[in-house]
Amino acid sequence: MPFSTYMDWVLHDPVHGAYGSGLLRIGPRGDFATSPSLGPDFAALLLRQIAAWLSELAAAGDGPLALVETGPGEAELALQLAQGLAQSWPHLAARTELVLVEPNPGMAARQRERLGQAGLKARWSSFEQLAAAPLRGVVLAHEVLDALAVDRICSDGSGWRQQLVAVQAAAAVSSGQSDTQHERQPALGLVAGAPLAPQALTSLAALGLEQPGPQRPAGWCTELHPGLSPWLSSCGSALIEGHLLVIDYGLEAWRYYAPARSGGTLMAYRQQQACSDPLREPGQWDITAHLCLESLLEAAAAAGWQSLGHCRQGQALLALGLAERLHGLQQVNPPASEQSVGHDLATLLARREAMLRLVDPHALGDFRWLAFRRGGKGEAKAASGGKTELIRRPAGAGPAEYQSAESQPAKFQRAELEPAELELEKFELPLFLRQPDG
Ligand SMILES: C[S@@+](CC[C@H](N)C(=O)[O-])C[C@H]1O[C@@H](n2cnc3c(N)ncnc32)[C@H](O)[C@@H]1O
Repeated sequence: MPFSTYMDWVLHDPVHGAYGSGLLRIGPRGDFATSPSLGPDFAALLLRQIAAWLSELAAAGDGPLALVETGPGEAELALQLAQGLAQSWPHLAARTELVLVEPNPGMAARQRERLGQAGLKARWSSFEQLAAAPLRGVVLAHEVLDALAVDRICSDGSGWRQQLVAVQAAAAVSSGQSDTQHERQPALGLVAGAPLAPQALTSLAALGLEQPGPQRPAGWCTELHPGLSPWLSSCGSALIEGHLLVIDYGLEAWRYYAPARSGGTLMAYRQQQACSDPLREPGQWDITAHLCLESLLEAAAAAGWQSLGHCRQGQALLALGLAERLHGLQQVNPPASEQSVGHDLATLLARREAMLRLVDPHALGDFRWLAFRRGGKGEAKAASGGKTELIRRPAGAGPAEYQSAESQPAKFQRAELEPAELELEKFELPLFLRQPDG
């Protein structure tokens, strides 16, 4: 079967899938942590951006607004955002409904429990249902698109082939009772399938991947993202006017498809361990693939989204006031908006550590934030959007690109910044961030 079918099943099958069944737990004591698991500061800073966008919509017209979180996981982020909005922007909260889009029944059940316990009102829906009465609001996709099923392609030395998942042979597996007792279990393997069709080759060329050539010898493989276009279209049909913010692992095409990244970006996570074998214990592990920035921008433009800009998480959070918040930890009398947060020394030190990890370019600071809008004043521009250009490779970028992606042990250790690029980016603030009114 195509890799995308396999990935879809092992993540989303309602009985056997890691998310579908609700097996995976997110948080420091779960299978893996995400930015909101580290404490209240990520949500508080992100909320400034969301509130700025909701304020714009509120000023542009009457009627209800929505904050839609897609892929809410344990609903920790949704909870923190909704509570923060009610506390700091009550006039917006009064007009804003919380909508959760979660296709996996096992996860949705836990989200209902979590928000119910906190006495928070929310409704669960799908983009297809929302399209019947599209909303004005903000859609947040935090660490969701990396769970969309990807396809794999591999080089056979002279051309590209689809990579398939196949049952190869029955392997002997210990039953666990004694060394001599074995069950025969089918073993899965990745095998080369048919050569790619000419149409697929055109899309590859647009990503800088013409023929494999000597730099990508037989066995070199990577991922493509067929799920992005349908996802962005159905998300777009749910929103008549507003913004989409995607926050995820992402790489420019020149990094993603660099010759040295010979095994793509797939990683599996479970019980705070990372593994580069996506075929291990199917349905027990989270499997993720980085986003290719150009593929996402191209699919978004085709689905009618106007790109507002993209940046690294470190830049976005600093622009939203992380440094001031860090400084505020030292104040004897914290600002009113922070008085509900613990102020003992251990809590303050943990928050300081978490904030530094959120912006560290060698940790969570390397996540990518991509902002889009549709409807209202942006509509005309969005419709006339042209072809997405490849993002240029900065002069001087080099050695880090030649490290194997598989040598990265933990979910947070993904940074590949070059000193030359850090210099360059110091002066480029994110385009889409506005001064919040709170
Ligand atoms: C890594 S978790 C992220 C959770 C949360 N956003 C956070 O940051 O803690 C991925 C979540 O996306 C959900 N998900 C997977 N595929 C999805 C899809 N196509 N649409 C919406 N949610 C999806 C999963 O069930 C899970 O709740």
